[in-house]
Amino acid sequence: MRQLTFSIFRFNPNIPGDKPRMQEYKLEEQDGMSMFVALTKIREELDPTLMFDFVCRAAICGSCAMLINGRPRLACKTLAKNMPSRITMMPLPVFKLIGDLCVDTGTWFKDLQIKTEAWVHTNKKFDPKALEEKMDNEVAEKIYEPDRCVECGCCVAACITANIRDDFIGATGINRVARFMLDPRDERSDADYFDVVGNEEGTFGCVGLMGCDDLCPMEIPLQENLAYVRRKMAAAGLKLQFQGVKVS
Ligand code: SF4
Ligand code: SF4
Ligand code: FES
Repeated sequence: MRQLTFSIFRFNPNIPGDKPRMQEYKLEEQDGMSMFVALTKIREELDPTLMFDFVCRAAICGSCAMLINGRPRLACKTLAKNMPSRITMMPLPVFKLIGDLCVDTGTWFKDLQIKTEAWVHTNKKFDPKALEEKMDNEVAEKIYEPDRCVECGCCVAACITANIRDDFIGATGINRVARFMLDPRDERSDADYFDVVGNEEGTFGCVGLMGCDDLCPMEIPLQENLAYVRRKMAAAGLKLQFQGVKVS
């Protein structure tokens, strides 16, 4: 088995005077070793101060995303056997650094839910006695695709626009909007969505280089969903202009 060298970003902003640096650790590779297992071994056997996030260890919670050899990836889904023997680990850019490899994706995604109004908008009165409404399987499956997002932040970290504009909602945000556009229970019109996403913070801020689509660990069809929202918003923008509404 190979010896692996990990070069890991270290910085704790809560320790006065602490400086960002790279620290090296060496480990024997093991069968089936993931980057999450390697980090746990480093923390248990070499350095208990190392900070990194995880919950599920199964690519479900999205909390272990980081830059591994320069690419945003989930540590629990990245296997040592697919990596060279020298591995660098950095925290995801864009998000606020908590320390070492931990970033605060939670606040970013909470703000995104508010900004994109990520809930079903309906004027129907709630009737607690009503039977559950049925949905066609085909429609449910369409909604399920964008809904598979685990909010890991890999697409945001990979996005050139998100790296230079902190108000950009990223592929995950546009994907979230697509999810509600596809949902027949949501009564918002395209003009309503235009207010939310028809701007530079949303679909028109995207430069379309598709780093997000290549790097999503859940393989969500981001390219397709971005194109779907962009087409709808371009049409809605034109319609609003014909109606004499000023579109910025
Ligand atoms: S295609 Fe758009 S959302 Fe995706 S990485 Fe590029 S700019 Fe960002
Ligand atoms: S769209 Fe993919 S890469 Fe982006 S946050 Fe969701 S799961 Fe992560
Ligand atoms: S620990 Fe949950 S996605 Fe990696």
